[in-house]
Amino acid sequence: MAETYTVTVEPLGREVQCAEDQPILDACLRAGVWLPHSCTHGTCATCKVDVLDGDVDHGASSSFALMDFERDEGKTLTCCALPQSDVTIEADIEVDDELEMFPVQDFEGTIVTLEDIATGIKRLVVKLDGEIGFNAGQYMRFRIPGHEGIDRTWSIASPPTQTDELEFHVALVPGGIGTEGWLFADAKEGDRVQMAGPYGRFVLRTWEEKPVVMLGGGTGLEPLAAMIKHALLNEEYEGHITLYAGARAPDYLYDLDLFRELEEEYPDQFTFNPCVDTGEGEGLRTGYVSSVMEEDFERLGGYQAYICGSPAMVEGTLKSLMSRRLFPRDIFHEDFFNEGDKAAGVGSPLIKR
Ligand SMILES: Cc1cc2nc3c(=O)[nH]c(=O)nc-3n(C[C@H](O)[C@H](O)[C@H](O)COP(=O)(O)OP(=O)(O)OC[C@H]3O[C@@H](n4cnc5c(N)ncnc54)[C@H](O)[C@@H]3O)c2cc1C
Ligand code: FES
Repeated sequence: MAETYTVTVEPLGREVQCAEDQPILDACLRAGVWLPHSCTHGTCATCKVDVLDGDVDHGASSSFALMDFERDEGKTLTCCALPQSDVTIEADIEVDDELEMFPVQDFEGTIVTLEDIATGIKRLVVKLDGEIGFNAGQYMRFRIPGHEGIDRTWSIASPPTQTDELEFHVALVPGGIGTEGWLFADAKEGDRVQMAGPYGRFVLRTWEEKPVVMLGGGTGLEPLAAMIKHALLNEEYEGHITLYAGARAPDYLYDLDLFRELEEEYPDQFTFNPCVDTGEGEGLRTGYVSSVMEEDFERLGGYQAYICGSPAMVEGTLKSLMSRRLFPRDIFHEDFFNEGDKAAGVGSPLIKR
């Protein structure tokens, strides 16, 4: 049986019990002690903390998110760090008082829908055995059947009011264990699945009254979809949201009707701009989401922006938003890192998440 150690989280002074084979972040989030994090896979460096006392094993931390000199200086990534003794860490904890944080829990459920919705994209709907609380924009970690110890993170596309059924949109990644190896291979409706969550802090700040631009690339639309449904259908936000949803070609776009209907129903609150890199279609604009956004806005001072997609898409879009005078503090982003990015050393521009 695995040894359990006490992790003391400063400056909160909170103590959490953590098994020697359990990441410190996981133990803290399950105990309701919120620590900063984003990817939860050792790639983005958002969860970096100081180890004030005790020993940790840095686990699967990538060498670029936690460099050798930082290891020597006593830093660690809590999403990968495994305690080897009682440990004291010091984290930069900034919690928005307005945001309710939901402790991470394990969930089981049944796949009730698994369908193709665009080229290389599936809609996955899971009916949970119980109910879940989460914030619009958060994600779950699925255990991949047949691959002990491997999990994959997919963002929730359904709004938080839907507590017993979660919707996800997943893109096929050639050679990927979770997608080509499972979801696009032998997964089927009726199968049982296991997952944990909710994770992440890429959430819509409904209490801030600034107008919002959202830019999603591919399935990067997912957390944005949850935010938009929550804002409009649940009347959680009264401002205006302009959405740019990008894909490489028209057959990679999905849920166009859903967003067009929302635009018709909420004309003062929502503007929808589907964009394609190449090709044509009714109502589609041509160009990267960032270039199309630049055509519409000379300046974005006073706005907030939410970006989600591949690390390359997020990086390009960040630069574009800053060229429109949007301060980094008003830009929130989620990078869809995968194992290939981790192996290749693709980092994240560390702004605010
Ligand atoms: C916070 C977050 C939210 C996300 N939400 C979504 C979402 O809503 N929808 C979605 O579609 N995706 C999402 N993703 C991406 C998702 O987590 C997976 O990365 C993606 O689905 C691919 O998983 P996979 O198991 O199929 O591929 P992986 O097994 O991770 O492989 C990815 C690629 O890397 C290559 N590779 C693997 N290991 C190595 C290695 N050691 N060296 C070199 N190459 C390697 C593989 O061949 C493959 O081409 C999210 C990611 C994050 C971080
Ligand atoms: S959350 Fe730990 S490195 Fe991304």
